[in-house]
Order: sequence, then structure tokens, then C-alpha cells
Amino acid sequence: MIDLLVRGARIIGSPDPAPVDLHVDRGVLLEIAPASSEPAPARTIIEAHGALLSAPYVEPHIHLDTALTAGEPRWNESGTLWEGIACWSERKALLSRADVIDRAEEILRWQVANGVLFVRSHVDVTDPTLQALDALLEVRDRVREVLELQLVAFPQEGICSFADGETLMNEAARRGIDVVGAIPHFEDTREDGVRSIEIAVDIAVRHGLMVDAHCDEIDDEQSRFIEVLATQALRTGLRDRVTASHATAMGSYNPAYSYKLQRILRRSGINLICNPLVNLHLGGRFDGYPKRRGLLQLKEMLGAGVNVAFGHDDIMDPWYPLGTGNPVQVAHVGAHATQMTAPSEVEECFRMVTDRAAAALGLGERYGIAPGRPANFMLLPAASPFDAIRRQVAPSHVISRGNLVAVCPPSPTTLYWPGRSVEPIDWVRSRDAAAACWRGQGDVAH
Ligand code: FE2
Repeated sequence: MIDLLVRGARIIGSPDPAPVDLHVDRGVLLEIAPASSEPAPARTIIEAHGALLSAPYVEPHIHLDTALTAGEPRWNESGTLWEGIACWSERKALLSRADVIDRAEEILRWQVANGVLFVRSHVDVTDPTLQALDALLEVRDRVREVLELQLVAFPQEGICSFADGETLMNEAARRGIDVVGAIPHFEDTREDGVRSIEIAVDIAVRHGLMVDAHCDEIDDEQSRFIEVLATQALRTGLRDRVTASHATAMGSYNPAYSYKLQRILRRSGINLICNPLVNLHLGGRFDGYPKRRGLLQLKEMLGAGVNVAFGHDDIMDPWYPLGTGNPVQVAHVGAHATQMTAPSEVEECFRMVTDRAAAALGLGERYGIAPGRPANFMLLPAASPFDAIRRQVAPSHVISRGNLVAVCPPSPTTLYWPGRSVEPIDWVRSRDAAAACWRGQGDVAH
């Protein structure tokens, strides 16, 4: 008797479209077998009815310590990054450990319900008490059974331009962060920005950590710290353990410099994180018309062989008042914002919230659908990744370490149209006739 049997699922990306059964025991995916009319005995059986089975979503960039603070103590009326930092500086003075833990765990529950089982969160360490960091270190332990949380020491107000910034970064590393952050474009001078990257990389090397810097998040074509970060990644050997987040200045780089930059980034092996929801909102605020999009050059970077993932960034905080922690919404908006709308490009957008994000987080064999790996996956009642993004399909089932942690059956709107029989409204149905996966809502039997 095994713990869990998933019957009749179609594995995403598999060359064989035939449904399969998945055998799970003690948190591990034991076997992927042809769908059988005589199922293996199991304590829990999920009938997938041909739904897509995917590795879970990965959230590569979020700020759990600031989430759910929008309007406290005041709203960011200008919608700029800079007023957001000023609002947060005021809210930061009101933090308590319980406040951070409550808000962070609320967002993590939203994310798991959306199919996210791996999260990288930045946490502001420009606070002499490091209260938010200590709170999120506790949260990381409390949620460990359900999801993996990586914490980035993020110097929101600078490393060189904030009093004792470097000391606080070193202390954060000593307390047990996973990743070292930076914010070079916010430092007072170009030289401070370069120095801040050197400090962050040095801390990572000394402690065996990864690096994820907020890098060039500004509509200034002169902001070119990404070349410094990539060069450091190459010269220290950290390579793909380094990530540049946001990189929105790239949206203003001229073609000659972009060409040079593609070569530097490809050689370095670093990852990029594009945050379309938040940077469409914050970007171009100082522009007249034409107004820039404020996003990195996604197609060019993918074309150059650079790994790029989509992140959510903020949720209801001083920098972004909206958000539900849903990666498929991020992929949907990202596809529009970066014009990744050819069928293969939409499918690539799905990879940017799954496989590519997993690579950025260095998950290795802790991620993916294969025998012997942890049984983390979700069922999507969709014909394809394209279909999942078009209809922004919620996962019907989320399984973490072999345990069912979320069930969300589709709830179609019934349409009463004169002259037609009563029917579910059409756009919620898959248009992919090959899959007939409208039935794929799945049943659970215990
Ligand atoms: Fe961010």
C-alpha cells in the first residue's frame, strides 16, 4: 500500500501524450507507470482525468517582509520606487516580529494555494535590529514541511550609503541567510554601487552563499551595474549562483551596448529575474510620451542563452498595491509586456515561472518530475502550458512532499443566453480539442 496514487495524468513536456499513473510513497515519487485499469493500492487516490501534471510553480522574487502593508502609514501617491522606499522607511519603524510573521505566512498560504512550493524572498536588512530578518528566519523553519523558502539579505537603503550597512550584511550572513543581496543603483555614487557589489560577492564567497542583487531598477540608461555583477560572477566562479533582479534600465540600453552586454551575461552564466507586474507599475513614472515599459530586454536575453525567470516582486505594499501571489498571472502579464506571444513564446513564459525559476534558485534535483525526486507537483486542468496561461488556470491539486496541500476545483460560470441551452460560459473551456481536459478537474478519494 503506497501513500498516494495519481491516476491518468499527462506529464507536461513529455514526448508521450498518453496518460500515466504516478506512485508516491513517503514523500517521494517512486514510479511513473502507464495508466492502468487496475490501480495500485493506495491510501489516497487522485483521479486526474487527463489533467496536466507539472512541477510546481517557483517564485524567484518576492518581498515577504513588506507584503500587505500598502497604505501604512500612508499610500505611495506618486507610484514611484523612490516614494515607495520613503513610505517603507516609515512603516519599518512600526515593525514587530509577530507583524512580519503574520503577513509573511499569509502570503505563503496564498502562494501554496496557487501552486507555489519554492519561494525566494528578499528581506530588508537596513534596520539595526534586523527584526524582519529574525522573523523570516523563524518563518523559514515553520513552513519547511510544506515549501522551501530562501531568504535574501536585501539592503533596501544601501550597503555603502546606509550607516553600518556592511556590518548589517555580515551579521545577516552570520544569522543564516541563503542569498546575499545588493542595490547598487540606489547607492549615492557610481563608485559606491560598484563597491556594494564587491562587498556582496565577497560575503557570498566567504559564507558559501548565492547572490541576488536588485540591479539597475531605474529608467536610466546610464545605470550599468549588471556588467559589474556579471563580471564578478565570472571572476569569482560563482557564475549561475548569481542573479540580477529587475534590471529595468536594460529596457533603455542602446542596441550596440546590448549586444556587448549579451556576451558578458552569457559568459558569466548569471540569471535574470524580470518582474512585469511591479515594474510596469513603477516604470516610466518620470517619462512623458512615449512612455517606457521599464522591463529588461527579455527576448534578446533568452536569444543570447541567458536564463531569465518571471517574479511577482511585491504584493500589496508601498511599491505595488495589487497582487495575489499567482505566478500564472505574472506569466500572463509578462507575455504581453514583453511581446512573448507566439505559441512557443507563451510556452516559454510558463517555463519562466517553473523550470527557469527553479534554475535561478539552484534547486537542482530537488525540483522536477522524475522517479526518486521529492513528490512536489500540481495538476492543471488545461490542455497545455499555453492554454493554462491564456485562461490563467488555477491548479486543481497541489501536492507537496507527497501530501495534498491544496484543492481548487474549477467553478465555471453558467450562462443563460436566450435561444441557447444552459451552458458553462465558453472562454473558461479549453480550446485544445486534443486534450478534452474540461473534465480534468480531478477527484480525490481517501
Ligand atoms: Fe524586488
